[in-house]
Amino acid sequence: MIPPLVYVDTNQRDLAEKIASNFGTTASTNQKLISHPHFDLSEAGLSFFHPDARSSNKLLIDFNSGSTGWRLKRVDHEKLIKKALGKSDLPLNILDCTAGMLQDALLFLSLGHQVTALEESKILFHLLQDGIRRSDDQTIFEKLDLINTNACSYAVQAKNFDVIYFDPMYPSTKKNALGSGKLEYIEKILEAESLDNDPLEDFEVLQLIPSKKMVVKRPIKAKSFSLKINYQVLGKTTRFDVYI
Ligand SMILES: C[S@@+](CC[C@H](N)C(=O)[O-])C[C@H]1O[C@@H](n2cnc3c(N)ncnc32)[C@H](O)[C@@H]1O
Repeated sequence: MIPPLVYVDTNQRDLAEKIASNFGTTASTNQKLISHPHFDLSEAGLSFFHPDARSSNKLLIDFNSGSTGWRLKRVDHEKLIKKALGKSDLPLNILDCTAGMLQDALLFLSLGHQVTALEESKILFHLLQDGIRRSDDQTIFEKLDLINTNACSYAVQAKNFDVIYFDPMYPSTKKNALGSGKLEYIEKILEAESLDNDPLEDFEVLQLIPSKKMVVKRPIKAKSFSLKINYQVLGKTTRFDVYI
């Protein structure tokens, strides 16, 4: 069941009702709801709260504080991704099948590539759109096409991509580069929407999309999705499996 959307400012009623109906839930000004899972609409933007998440903060996508932070914290990760993409004099046309918090997509964009990012969660998609709307730097998003769809449904129409990028959810006991707090929130959102894809089944469909290469992010010790790997780029906790 999709949690309700709670708002305080009655000037935001129309917007709150529009977003809530889009999510398939209700909008309410009842503050008693805020100790339960809920969306929050305020001047700060649209956020999501879940009392069982380890982080006591709401999940608010903030590209303003993140835009420098994510790069500084992820220097090693950036090196690995660059290596996995390989050298290219021209900007690449990348299909990011698993947008998530757009952290990897931002990396691709910052390298000058064109990115089509797919996110099947309607809730996450709206949180992302809201974060992009509030971003002080709109230029970085100029080469981004963010689409709310399942990558396997999109696969049939996917054409002219140089790289297919796939970063499915890890088993919930594992952590990945996003940090456990944010990933845990993604898990809670997917739970609320009853979205539960099998990454191996997705891989089998996505690897059929015509492209020059496919890059798959995996936990370092995980089994690869296929034996046809051409090479791997290894980090400490994560690796990239590259299929050409
Ligand atoms: C591990 S996160 C991706 C994190 C992302 N690479 C980042 O840097 O923020 C996986 C995301 O992919 C989405 N996802 C998983 N399978 C998908 C599919 N088949 N189509 C579209 N989105 C999918 C999930 O909803 C989740 O938000």
